[in-house]
Amino acid sequence: MTVMSSAALDRMLAILLVAQIASGLLTLRSGVPATAPLFWLHGLLGGTLLVASAEKLRRSIGPALRTRRWSRLVLGALLTLAVAAALAGGFAWVASGRIWSIGPWTILTLHVWAGLAVVPIVLVHLVPRRWRLLRPRRAGAPGLSRRTFLAMIAGTALGAGAWAAANVSDRLRGGSRRFTGSRWLPDGGIPPPTTFYGEGAPTLDADAWRLRVTGRVADPMTLDLAALDALGGTERTAVLDCTSGWVMRTSWRGTPLASVLAAAGADPDAHFVNVRSATGWMVPLEPADLDDALLATHVGGRRLPIGNGAPVRLVAPRRRGLDWVKWVIEVEVT
Ligand code: HEM
Repeated sequence: MTVMSSAALDRMLAILLVAQIASGLLTLRSGVPATAPLFWLHGLLGGTLLVASAEKLRRSIGPALRTRRWSRLVLGALLTLAVAAALAGGFAWVASGRIWSIGPWTILTLHVWAGLAVVPIVLVHLVPRRWRLLRPRRAGAPGLSRRTFLAMIAGTALGAGAWAAANVSDRLRGGSRRFTGSRWLPDGGIPPPTTFYGEGAPTLDADAWRLRVTGRVADPMTLDLAALDALGGTERTAVLDCTSGWVMRTSWRGTPLASVLAAAGADPDAHFVNVRSATGWMVPLEPADLDDALLATHVGGRRLPIGNGAPVRLVAPRRRGLDWVKWVIEVEVT
C-alpha cells in the first residue's frame, strides 16, 4: 500500500532537490553566524532527500528494468549516482568527526562537486517532466490528501533523525564544526594554500607588483608595497573559513582597505568595491564588508607565502574563504 502517489513523490523530490542545490550554493557565500539557519536547513533537507530518494528507488527500479527504456534508465541511474554521492559525501563529512580527504580533496569538496554535478543531470531529467510536475490541480480535484501530508511529515521526521544522527556521531568522535560545517585547525598558524578550483599560484614579483585603485575615486592611484604599507599597517585576528571544510583563527597584518579607499577619495555612495586577483578572480564587496577588510601582506607573524596570496591578499572577515581574494592587483570602486 503506497501512502503517497508517485506524482506527489516526484513533486516532493523535485522540490527537495532544487531547494537542496539552492541552499548548498548559498552556503558558499554565507560567512556570518546569522546565516547558520541556512546550514541547518541544508542538513534537514539532506536528510529528507535521503528518505524520499530511497522510496523513489524502491518504487522505480523494478518498472524501469521491466520497461527496458534504456535512455531513461541510464539518465535515472546517473541522477541516482550523483544524488547518492552528494548525500553520502555530506553525511560522511558531518558524521566523521574529522577532516578527511581523498588525494588533495576533502570529502566536503567532493561533496560540493557531486552536488554541482546534480544540477545539469536534474535539469535534463526534470525538463521533459516539467508539465507533469507543474500542472496545476484540476478544479475540484482533491488537494493534498491527509495521507500524503502525513507521509511528508513522516519523511521529514526521518530526515531530521538522519541529520541528528550524523551530528551526534560527529560529537561522539570529538568533532567540532563551525556553523558552516568547517572544522577548526589550530589557532595562529599559516592556513593551507587551498584554492576553490585548485588553480595554481601565479608568479608575481613583489618588487614589480603594483596595486591599482580605480573606478569611482577622486584620485586613481597605483601603489607599490611600500606605499601601501605607508597608508598605515595594522594587525588583526580574523577567522578564515574555507569552503573545502577547514577553518582557522589567525593573525593578519596589512593595510585596512578603508584607508586605501580614503586615500583615493572613493565615492561614499559607491555600491561595490571589486577586488581583483592576478588570476582574474574578482569579488564584489558590499559597504558592510569594508569596515574590517584588510589588504594583508603577513599572516601568523610571517610574510605571506605565495600559495596564500603573496604579495597581497584580501582579508574579509564576513566572507567565506573563496572571497578572500589572493594575489590582489586591483581595487575598483563601482
Ligand atoms: C551545490 C552545492 C552544495 C554545497 C556547497 C553543499 C555544502 C554543504 C556543506 C557545507 C555541508 C556541511 C554542513 C554541516 O556540516 O553542518 C553539507 C552537508 C550536507 N549536504 Fe550539501 N552541499 C551542496 C549540495 C548538496 C546536494 C545537491 C545534496 C543532496 C543531493 C546535499 C546533501 C547534503 C547532506 C545530506 C549533508 C549532511 C547533512 C548534515 O548532516 O548536516 N548537498 N553540504
